[in-house]
Amino acid sequence: MQGLPPPSEREREDFAKRVNRTLWIRAYVGATVAILLVAVVAVSATLGTTFRVGDLTAVGVFTVLAFITGALESAPQAGIGGSVLFVAHLSAAITTGPIGATIVAFLSSSATQAWRKREPIKLLFNVAQLTLSLLVASSLYVIAGGRLRVATFSNQDFMAYVVLVFGYFTINSASVSGAVAISRGERFSDIWRFGPLSIFAVTVPILALRQAYRDNADLKKANQDLEASHRELLEYTVKQIEARDPYTSGHSRRVAEYARVLAFEAGLSASDVKDVTTAALLHDVGKVYHEFGTLLQKEGRLSPEEKVLLQSHPVRSAELIATISSLRGAVELAVRHHHENYDGTGYPDGLRGESIPIGSRIIMIADTLDAMTTDRPYRSALKFDRVIEEFRRYAGKQFDRRLAELAIKSHAIRRLVGGMSAETLDTISSSPLMRSRPWVRVRAKASGNPAQ
Ligand SMILES: [Fe+2]
Repeated sequence: MQGLPPPSEREREDFAKRVNRTLWIRAYVGATVAILLVAVVAVSATLGTTFRVGDLTAVGVFTVLAFITGALESAPQAGIGGSVLFVAHLSAAITTGPIGATIVAFLSSSATQAWRKREPIKLLFNVAQLTLSLLVASSLYVIAGGRLRVATFSNQDFMAYVVLVFGYFTINSASVSGAVAISRGERFSDIWRFGPLSIFAVTVPILALRQAYRDNADLKKANQDLEASHRELLEYTVKQIEARDPYTSGHSRRVAEYARVLAFEAGLSASDVKDVTTAALLHDVGKVYHEFGTLLQKEGRLSPEEKVLLQSHPVRSAELIATISSLRGAVELAVRHHHENYDGTGYPDGLRGESIPIGSRIIMIADTLDAMTTDRPYRSALKFDRVIEEFRRYAGKQFDRRLAELAIKSHAIRRLVGGMSAETLDTISSSPLMRSRPWVRVRAKASGNPAQ
């Protein structure tokens, strides 16, 4: 019986080498896993307190993100080429710290490797080396003074982030290159390509991104500061206008409060309630212009030309408000149309019904409510029963019927009117500046409505 020829010397050497490499690979993987376990224990003991239960949501999100990016990644190679997995890993490190990042790396890489149906030894190695890379790098980030869960980076955070990036890519590429070198029987130095060029390629985009973010954040902050001071100036202007006359002192603040309650009770969204309140506070800011000053001070009736001029104040107010970009649109329009009557007889554009912005319809009611419930030189503040009568009488004409009913039935409005009237009475009775305010009387006579 003829058997196989005995293996040649060379075949025996090749076989021995393959066995040898397999043993070395197993030892290498075993060492990687052992180092990972030691690192997990060491980091848990020293940096375990950086993890919070509240981070679990972020851990879940980053795990899913890392799994998706890992699964979509093209054929894996040694080093960092082609992988976007690091985005999810590094984000997890600076958000949840070493423990959270380790969980993310372990779960996501286990799922990715299983999904790719890797051989057990490769699966074990890939999971261990990715988890170890992120565990060590995220620990270095904390040790280097990097803060977790921050919206903006300080210089210290950024330096720590550079350490995190270097640590992550160095460990990742070195461990993979080690495995490749053993399996191919080549020298490690011939495989590992993570040199200065790789470091440059990783850090330059991060530096550029950070600079762009900082510039943008600085610009945004400067704009917000400018807008805030501009808005404060408008509010101050309203106070100055009202300070000319004790009867209007605090008027805009009260109108804003009534408008806020009405907008809320009308079911507007939080952001719309805020817009309506702002518009109500600033609705008469255009009266700061000189031509209105002389009209407001005038004794006796206004001439038809003067009435037309006075009726331009909503437009002038809206123009002033539009100088603040964040108030353009809803707030600007609510102010422009705050003297439109529901039946279309108002000004400046004669809008009718639902075509009048709801903010303007609310301000119309809030403005009139304050006029009726505060003392005037020619009459005392009206009782709430009279206010109800007036609202019902002019519902559908001057006022939105639904909003007028809302104001009548609102307990919050009634409480506010009570509290504010008492406060207003105190202010007025103690004011040495108490005097007549003829334009209010003239307007009331002109419209035939004490509320106008
Ligand atoms: Fe007005």
